[in-house]
Amino acid sequence: MSFGRMPLANAFLRAEDFADETFFELAPAFCAPCGTFQLFEQPDPAALFHGDYPFYTGSSARMSHYFSEVAEDLIRRCSCSARPGSSNDGAGTFIIELGCNDGTMLQVLAARGIPHLGVEPSGNVAQSARDKGVNVLESFFGAACATAIVGEYGQADIVYAANVMCHIPDLHRVAEAVDLVLKQEGRLIFEDPYLGDMLARTSYDQIYDEHVFMFSLAAVTSAFSPHGFTVVECQALSNHGGSMRYTLARDGIAAPAPSVAELAEKEEVEGLQRAQTFTLFAERCTASRTELRAVLGRLHDEGAAVLGYGAASKSTTVINYCGIDKQWLPAICDSTPAKQGRFSPGAHIPIVPPEVFADPYPDFALLFVWNHQEEIIAKEKGYRRHGGKWISHTPRVEVWP
Ligand code: TMP
Repeated sequence: MSFGRMPLANAFLRAEDFADETFFELAPAFCAPCGTFQLFEQPDPAALFHGDYPFYTGSSARMSHYFSEVAEDLIRRCSCSARPGSSNDGAGTFIIELGCNDGTMLQVLAARGIPHLGVEPSGNVAQSARDKGVNVLESFFGAACATAIVGEYGQADIVYAANVMCHIPDLHRVAEAVDLVLKQEGRLIFEDPYLGDMLARTSYDQIYDEHVFMFSLAAVTSAFSPHGFTVVECQALSNHGGSMRYTLARDGIAAPAPSVAELAEKEEVEGLQRAQTFTLFAERCTASRTELRAVLGRLHDEGAAVLGYGAASKSTTVINYCGIDKQWLPAICDSTPAKQGRFSPGAHIPIVPPEVFADPYPDFALLFVWNHQEEIIAKEKGYRRHGGKWISHTPRVEVWP
């Protein structure tokens, strides 16, 4: 299937950049031999992750809280496997986070003096992590990086990555690098948006340049098992509308938990390895686009005021796939200073600060960041009191309340 020519999802532009905008063909496909749902054309990671990367993990209070819990969990896991008699404060352990972004997770380890390293290729967010006291290596992750890390710090107990593994086109090189950097008994833990949830919600906006893969257990197994890694635990998460956390160990180190066989069976039942599943998904995407266009077109004809809420990377796919322009959506509110004053990729819709939302409130707001719905509804109570209505596009196109 193809979503057509698409700009880079996080390339928020200044007016003077319009002429040089990068486009590519956003065409995901199911690869039967390796069981992955992946992009055909994969833009160069260096064009996506650089010193002007506009996504900051800390922009969501809920996700910040979530990542401090992740940090506590990683510390506990290391403490459990610590040598008998060693202290329980994490000393002697070493935790690496791939794509640590602004250090939201690792700052908890930094504050406790637990040896850690964030590997982050985007200079601006790496600096934001350093400002929190996080130890950062500004680099893409691969064999050379892994060798340098081992030389300087030794091998890690845990390599963790959240919403990062699915960004890396060459999974086999990553697996080789993890093999170098991880202790024999160590764990690779990563979480990414889950294919099964994307299909169930028709959340096609999860498909954009950075999401080279939408993983399933089957895909993760097929990528990592040739490198001697076994999935030993799967945990479904509500993040990003449905994510999955995979814990991997070297073959023979740990027996897989029941969650692994259970998820494998569920994927079988749901047909995540059947081409027909993706044909039906493509049909639902087309229908969703038709419905959203009908709602926005009708509101425009009626003269209603409509704003977008949350200029997430996901919104780039929705806007450009559905052909939403400035006539239908004159602005998008977003709390990220690095996006404000810029223009959305492709459609060039202005990004404005959240204060604009109430000045005055629009009649309708298209909630691009449906994954942060609870947090935003709580924050924007005044909008509902004012009689404002939200528009959702997933799992169904709906206007509410
Ligand atoms: P994400 O869905 O990829 O996490 O991106 C969320 C975007 O939404 C990010 O640009 C920040 C923005 N945002 C707001 O504008 N207000 C909010 O309350 C939250 C939680 C996020």
